[in-house]
Amino acid sequence: MRNYWMPFTGNRDFKTDPRIFVRAEGVYYWNDKGDKIIDASSGLFCCAAGHCRKEIADAVYAQMQALDYSPPFQTAQPLAFEFARRVAELTPAGLDHIFFTNSGSESVDTAMKIAYAYHYARGEGQRQRFISRERAYHGVNLGGVSLSGMIKNRQAFGPGVPGVAHMRHTWLPENRFVKGQPETGAELANDLERLALNYGPDTIAACFVEPIAGSTGCLVPPKGYLERLRELCDTYGILLIFDEVITGFGRTGKAFAADSFGVKPDIMTLAKALTNAAQPMGAVAVSDEIHDAIFNAAPEKAIELFHGYTYSAHPAACAAGIATMDIFKNEGLFHKAAELSDYFLDSIFALSDIPAITDIRGYGMLAGIDIKPEDQPGLAGLNAQKALFRNHLNLKATGDSLLVAPPLISERAHIDEICEKLRVTLAAL
Ligand SMILES: Cc1ncc(COP(=O)(O)O)c(C=O)c1O
Repeated sequence: MRNYWMPFTGNRDFKTDPRIFVRAEGVYYWNDKGDKIIDASSGLFCCAAGHCRKEIADAVYAQMQALDYSPPFQTAQPLAFEFARRVAELTPAGLDHIFFTNSGSESVDTAMKIAYAYHYARGEGQRQRFISRERAYHGVNLGGVSLSGMIKNRQAFGPGVPGVAHMRHTWLPENRFVKGQPETGAELANDLERLALNYGPDTIAACFVEPIAGSTGCLVPPKGYLERLRELCDTYGILLIFDEVITGFGRTGKAFAADSFGVKPDIMTLAKALTNAAQPMGAVAVSDEIHDAIFNAAPEKAIELFHGYTYSAHPAACAAGIATMDIFKNEGLFHKAAELSDYFLDSIFALSDIPAITDIRGYGMLAGIDIKPEDQPGLAGLNAQKALFRNHLNLKATGDSLLVAPPLISERAHIDEICEKLRVTLAAL
């Protein structure tokens, strides 16, 4: 127990009463005591196709025997091209250039660097500021932490990358218990204009948002909000970057939240369900215009972007990713998610009468439930998470919000089981 320093965990508290998974299959985990535990948050929103998919395991095993590793700088392996093609088949038209990373955090920092490089290539290197949002979560590397807005993720870690300003978040008290997109709040997007005019629009590189703010508790964008951001970015020459690490690959009922909300960004950051989490991987989808500007600015035989990771486009991750794309396609999982969404959201919102619950939000196959806080922020959420685990339900809690995001292979009976366990446990808090 002593040597493993666990991430985002109260290590001392955890080690007094460990919660250990030893096996998984489909929509379920099993713990070290043999208990079967329903997975209400797809691991960490990543196992969209369910756990331990044999197709993925087989593809990874075969690849590991054929070619375990090849350097991604100045050499390549075939699956990298094939996987990029498969991802680009799904991304919105024109966002066809795929840069591979190893995590969502790396995707975010990569996207920031691509934004800098794009403006630099066009002779607008003065565009070095980023606009993001309060309550945002853009991973844990220093670029992403600078963009993020959740206080505990920033507080101990210095000032971060200079030149980041935050718009207000989109949670409004009048939108409590609203299912789907709230009617009010679109005007909050005008914060982007206000900040642009305060700093000078031609100093802003990009506006970075999660289309649905996920980790902070599922804040669904008000109607018209993302459209207004797009409009303002176009007016002021600012890139719009959607962080779709959680919302990507069917979570919203379409391939991406960009499709569900009908707003096309210039860059998208991806990870999690990209490989069904069977291998660590992230990706950045980049528009033709940005890609071409960076390429055209470099001499013919020169490296266009001085960026990349030893494990970019790792063969095992590409194999897992291609097998995942096959499952998404063959099983129609995005469509299945769209079909199940109403039932899922109705079932979750039916919990609204439980006294400990102060708000519920949701869209697609993602919902956030706020629990009445105790004196120490986050304690109520942690206690709820532990009580749910004891009742054989796994989910992600952030602060005092519980996040529900079942695997997209779930059936109605799984949603019923999740909601029954939520009701029994949260009613007893
Ligand atoms: C929107 C968003 N961006 C980035 C990340 C970071 O991803 P990772 O944990 O793979 O670095 C996350 C993780 O939850 C996320 O939700």
